[in-house]
Amino acid sequence: MKKIGPTPENIAIAAEQIRSGGVVAFPTETVYGLGASAFDDSAIQQVFGLKGRPADNPLIVHIASMDDLDLVTTSVPDWTRTLMKKFWPGPISFVLPVSEQVSQKATAGLSTVAVRMPDHKTAHALIRQAGVPLVAPSANISGRPSPTTADDVVEDFADTDLLVIDGGPCQVGIESTVVLCLPEKGIILRPGVITKEEMASSVDVPIELDQRSSKDTPQSPGMKYRHYAPQARVVLVDEVPAELRNAWLCVYGEEGDGKHISEQNLYRTFRDADKEGIETIYILDTQKLRENTGLYNRIQKAAE
Ligand code: TXA
Ligand code: MG
Repeated sequence: MKKIGPTPENIAIAAEQIRSGGVVAFPTETVYGLGASAFDDSAIQQVFGLKGRPADNPLIVHIASMDDLDLVTTSVPDWTRTLMKKFWPGPISFVLPVSEQVSQKATAGLSTVAVRMPDHKTAHALIRQAGVPLVAPSANISGRPSPTTADDVVEDFADTDLLVIDGGPCQVGIESTVVLCLPEKGIILRPGVITKEEMASSVDVPIELDQRSSKDTPQSPGMKYRHYAPQARVVLVDEVPAELRNAWLCVYGEEGDGKHISEQNLYRTFRDADKEGIETIYILDTQKLRENTGLYNRIQKAAE
């Protein structure tokens, strides 16, 4: 594992590594990603191998310009284009019909591909210099909390020769909203900081939340796996526990005792708890927390 700064020289080295079929970890505004060419089967195979990720869980393809869209998808509904103009670059991925060029390993053989333009200048520079769209799952071992600093990536991949570009802490802290784009409507497969309401107010098609329970076949294959979880047990509680033995209490919002959590520091808190040998992370289940659908979704997954 080697950590390098986001200098032009280092980005050039990383881009060359991707062009020659390698894998590089890089920062985005949401979480760090494990990048490889979206057109390169064997590089993508390495990404799955490094993460220990099930082969049926597809990857998000990252682009740096609207012109790159044609490389990865065959058609974009008008309403989706409107949302791209509003929210890109930013923390939202659109699931669209996949082009022939994109590796079937990236899409797990699906007829669709998730596409995102990240809001991070290092990510843009890397994609541009690599000259190809980049697949980038979160740069963690599958099942672990996503990494929000370069050191988190180092922690998960310490004994590999992976290169990570250190761009400092991620501003958003949880993964992008993922929305399936049908001609007549949008379906949110994974909630994030860009909400259903924000999307719906900009377009005239309905935007729905994926209502299937996790027992049904999920539209977004990744949602069926245990996720984002620290070693500590995560427990949602209605009341402050009477006693905290080797445990933390976490609260969302301003009021109350306990550690204050938000999108920005949820995964940080999970990783810190593990470093301190905490056994149980209690999270106060409030209305305010539930209204933050992206954050609440990650907590529920971790608590499963
Ligand atoms: O913010 C993010 O999205 C980060 C940064 C690095 O960009 N990436 C990320 O990737 O979270 P990953 O691989 O950890 O999560 C991708 C999610 C999974 O839930 C996967 O199932 C879903 O997107 N997904 C990818 N392609 C899909 C497709 N064609 N159809 C439905 N879901 C898809
Ligand atoms: Mg992930």
